[in-house]
Amino acid sequence: MLNFSWDDKPELYDDDNEVSKLKIYRDSDENQIVPLYLSPSEFEEILNSQSHIFLEGDNYPFLKIVSGHLEGKVDLIYIDPPYNTGNTFSYNDNFLQNGERHSAWLSFMKRRLTLARQLLSDTACIFIAIDQSELYMLKLLCDQIFGEENFVNDFMWLHGKGKKDKWSRTLQQHTLCYAKNKRLLHPFCDIEITDWAKSNPDDDPRGNWFSGSISFTESRSNPRHKNFYEIISPSGKKWRRQWLVSPEEMEMLIATDKIYFGKKPEYDQVPRIKIFNSEETEIIPKNIIDNVESTRTAQRHLDELLGEKDLFDNPKPVDLIEHLIEIVQLPKNALIMDFFAGSGTTFEALLNVNERDQGHRRCILVQTPEVNLKKPEYTISDVCRRRIVKVLSKNAASSAAAPANQAAPSVEFLSLR
Ligand SMILES: C[S@@+](CC[C@H](N)C(=O)[O-])C[C@H]1O[C@@H](n2cnc3c(N)ncnc32)[C@H](O)[C@@H]1O
Repeated sequence: MLNFSWDDKPELYDDDNEVSKLKIYRDSDENQIVPLYLSPSEFEEILNSQSHIFLEGDNYPFLKIVSGHLEGKVDLIYIDPPYNTGNTFSYNDNFLQNGERHSAWLSFMKRRLTLARQLLSDTACIFIAIDQSELYMLKLLCDQIFGEENFVNDFMWLHGKGKKDKWSRTLQQHTLCYAKNKRLLHPFCDIEITDWAKSNPDDDPRGNWFSGSISFTESRSNPRHKNFYEIISPSGKKWRRQWLVSPEEMEMLIATDKIYFGKKPEYDQVPRIKIFNSEETEIIPKNIIDNVESTRTAQRHLDELLGEKDLFDNPKPVDLIEHLIEIVQLPKNALIMDFFAGSGTTFEALLNVNERDQGHRRCILVQTPEVNLKKPEYTISDVCRRRIVKVLSKNAASSAAAPANQAAPSVEFLSLR
């Protein structure tokens, strides 16, 4: 048996008595913070409401407090914890203690990931962003907490020109994905625009196409499946098997000449679907993400949105998080959590996804009020709050065109202290 262990570093909130001394407050308005004490039942009401939640505070006691209310209820967790690079950013990224840098980080992460796992629903998963500083430690830690069998993949983001030293340039950052229970996790799906079809075997006026599978082989077909039926090619050849589409959809595909039965006049090949260039195709997502913004453009976006530089270092690109939310194929009312919120990229990404498909997914964000090491007049939670307010007002400006049944997003601003 593999025994992965380190010197555990205790924390104040290991003690539940310390957690019970904390109270939750609600900002009376978004800009001027005059906190109002919330009773446990008022807090529970907010947790069950339709509002997004931003909580200023340490995520460890917060996770302990919500574990009773949200156990098994969270559909997706995305976190981007401090990577422990030892660099000076706007937030602390150094867990070095007595000359040893992994133990404190592992102890910190183990506490939070163990609680996070309890919150995940049976069909949920967690994405954890990381770089090579702690990637290998994190993999072993997550195997211990979630089970190696629940590892889904490492989704690698190509983040720009690369972090270089004298020997190499590292082009990727990592996003480990673990399921609560991989057997119950829905398959992931991505959309790709086809541009590689090079031929047009039946001179279709719509141009070049390639063919994709649209059925199971006869031996792998399930005769009791609702999509088990027969279709007949133009030459009369019968194909009875399990198809990937319903009989109604197949009828439509045949009527629009989207099914290829092989060359005429024989028309005797296994029917396949024709996919034209510029058509959207559903694919199993690649684990290398190379079509989203870079670190540099993500930083520029945040600086422009906030109207000030140096408020937060290394925000993730909004479209990277949109991509992760979208491939998971969450229900439109999913509950998402990011308890290392930083500048609040997850909030902006979620609002964009909701706007695109008229979803009403909710998120809970948590961020400590740690002092911004580059602009000590602000805390990082101030920055996150400011971004949320900006994104909400941008969203309100663009939502004039939104359907009437799409309620404007609202956020509860809370703090735990
Ligand atoms: C890498 S940043 C997250 C960046 C974020 N994904 C974005 O795009 O803006 C990690 C964040 O976790 C926050 N953090 C660290 N320890 C925390 C804790 N115990 N509770 C809540 N937030 C914490 C840090 O202040 C920092 O803002």
